[in-house]
Amino acid sequence: MLKKFPRTSIINSMFYYIVTYGCQMNVHESEKIAGILHKDGHTACDTAEEADLIVFNTCCIRDNAEKRALGNIGALKQRKITQKNLIIAVLGCMTQQKGFAASMKEKYPYVDIILGANNLHLLPYYLKLNDRKNSLKIEDTDTYDINIPVDTFRTSYPNAWVNIMYGCNNFCSYCIVPYVRGREISRPPREIINEIKFLLDEGYKEITLLGQNVNSYLCEGYNFARLLSDISKIDKKFRLRFMTSHPKDFNKEIIDIIKSSENICNHIHLPVQSGSDRILKLMNRKYTSAHYIKLADAVYENIGGALISTDLMVGFPTETDGDFEDTLSLVKRCRFSQAFTFVYSPRSGTLSASMPDIDKETKKHRITELIKRQNAITKEISDTFRDKTAEILIENESDGIFTGRTTNGKLVSFKKSGSYKTGDFATVLISVSKSASLTGTILLDANLANK
Ligand code: 5AD
Ligand code: SF4
Repeated sequence: MLKKFPRTSIINSMFYYIVTYGCQMNVHESEKIAGILHKDGHTACDTAEEADLIVFNTCCIRDNAEKRALGNIGALKQRKITQKNLIIAVLGCMTQQKGFAASMKEKYPYVDIILGANNLHLLPYYLKLNDRKNSLKIEDTDTYDINIPVDTFRTSYPNAWVNIMYGCNNFCSYCIVPYVRGREISRPPREIINEIKFLLDEGYKEITLLGQNVNSYLCEGYNFARLLSDISKIDKKFRLRFMTSHPKDFNKEIIDIIKSSENICNHIHLPVQSGSDRILKLMNRKYTSAHYIKLADAVYENIGGALISTDLMVGFPTETDGDFEDTLSLVKRCRFSQAFTFVYSPRSGTLSASMPDIDKETKKHRITELIKRQNAITKEISDTFRDKTAEILIENESDGIFTGRTTNGKLVSFKKSGSYKTGDFATVLISVSKSASLTGTILLDANLANK
């Protein structure tokens, strides 16, 4: 629990609160923003109400995350009048959209700082500038050097997120990411491996490699498979995960490395988006449903106990009932352990934004049907865990209940017992299966490897 302590002696030190929207990548970026603010002498507080500095770490991939951020920023208008010293900073990829900063300055003139997604490290500089000149409005969404090392304030122990690359080259026709995050840049392998060695020495038990398309990692003669292989050879007990993969780049070489490495988790997040070849082509995904099914089969055949999760989108422009049926068939065939389901929303500047959007009712009907079908599969997969034991990395504790995951990504909750604590590996006997999650009991006499 974060507390509001008396101000430190550092001049202009502030209490800050970060509001995060979007995916895990943004959660990790908020850890970087927190690290930058701590280093600059500021202190986190529990609620936005207590803060002198509110940072919105925004996301514009989907319409709803953007709407929520704008709604919350809008709600601060009154408070800014009564709390004169309040600083509002808007960061993240929403600010990188063409024309966004100008429109924000017009519609939300009380926002003090608008900073591009690649300029997080400049926040302290602009906070000082803002402070000195008081009412100066700052806007900087240019991209300088996105790989500036920052002190990360990690909040997800025993997991540590590690970016291996930034940006995206794929230009899926519905997606705004390449426009707001720029082209792919891979971090040097030595830098990544050294960071992971440091994190493991610090006691982290799980490393999750991050990138929009980690499979296309390429730097200094390393491809993704080689990078995975080298990381997995670090001599410590830990779990190695990665996200997100792309079906056009995920391949047998990567599957073989996962198969031969004990610590690379047998859970692959492999977004398929649609089961219709016509829609996949319009989406510019560069694979067919047959290719995807072949990949999924290869994962299941080669990697023991593997589970695959995915992202699915309904209501892409021109999607017919037949296209949607193709998606349902693929879902049935691939048996995903979990699916993140989205209703298509046009993003300004993308290719598909100029295609005719289909009606809301059809979209609603399709998403409801898709979720229903996937939930049934998720439950069937959960049922296969009953009366079996699994090694769980304890990730959280709340009111005497632990939660953690199996190597293949199923969430399990169980009563705290013995001397177990967050970050320990426990052998758990699973007794109850709900739709997505499982419940079990720690086997206290199991031979554990908590090194
Ligand atoms: N509309 C709806 N969903 C989208 N996604 C990306 N862009 C859009 C959009 N315009 C979804 C995709 C992607 C996930 C991160 O967000 O499914 O895999
Ligand atoms: Fe967007 Fe496609 Fe890149 Fe993923 S791979 S970030 S969906 S453009």
